[in-house]
Amino acid sequence: MREKLVAGNWKMNGNLKESVSLLNALVTDISTIGSNTSYAVCVPYPYLAVAQSTLKNTTIKWGAQNVSQHESGAFTGEVSAIMLNDFECTYVIVGHSERRMLFGESNQVVAEKYLAAQKAGLVPILCVGETLEQRDSDITEQVIYEQLNTVMTVAGVDSFRNAVIAYEPVWAIGTGKTATPQQAQDIHHFIRQSIVKQNAEVASGLTILYGGSVKANNAAELFAMPDIDGGLIGGASLIAEEFIAICSAIS
Ligand code: G3H
Repeated sequence: MREKLVAGNWKMNGNLKESVSLLNALVTDISTIGSNTSYAVCVPYPYLAVAQSTLKNTTIKWGAQNVSQHESGAFTGEVSAIMLNDFECTYVIVGHSERRMLFGESNQVVAEKYLAAQKAGLVPILCVGETLEQRDSDITEQVIYEQLNTVMTVAGVDSFRNAVIAYEPVWAIGTGKTATPQQAQDIHHFIRQSIVKQNAEVASGLTILYGGSVKANNAAELFAMPDIDGGLIGGASLIAEEFIAICSAIS
């Protein structure tokens, strides 16, 4: 049976005081949820230390939102996977659409980041998804296949044994427009089938999250779909009660 996961992506929000307060609230409330799901928060780099110290002896895991594809060297402003290890991160998000669109990360660069994360023992949460324009042009599957295939070419299909995929339609991120459960399921199924063609066992064990305007009031119906194994939650992960309610919506 594959692992279920609800992960928060705080993006570039909050300050130290708010981060501590949110982490403490999660520790108190998530410990009361009795399920077989994993929970995680991906926090801004400066708050990794406080996530590490607050979450260390809890069931909540933590991670970062980006990583360099390089191991070390003259890359001003970058953070390596080895550095993330120093903070005992479990996860790192790679290829979020905001990184792809605002910071020009290509499929190739994302695949290299994914590989660098795995080499350091981190579990990459690989984000894939189409823009509204691509969906309207009927090229959603082609776009997502290219995103996946670049990773399979660089890191191999076996790499998905230690990775998570997040399907995040760009048009649903932070817009309040959630994909319908069936729309999301269709793409999750497509993603899994694309991997089945290379290795059915790897595909059936792969955790695929949905992300894009997931809230407490729509999480349960999304999580009930057969190929949706949890969520990558943006805005709603900044509000403790809302995030806890989303975590509680998965069974
Ligand atoms: O990584 C999370 C996604 O970008 C979703 O963000 O829940 O604010 O739409 P959102």
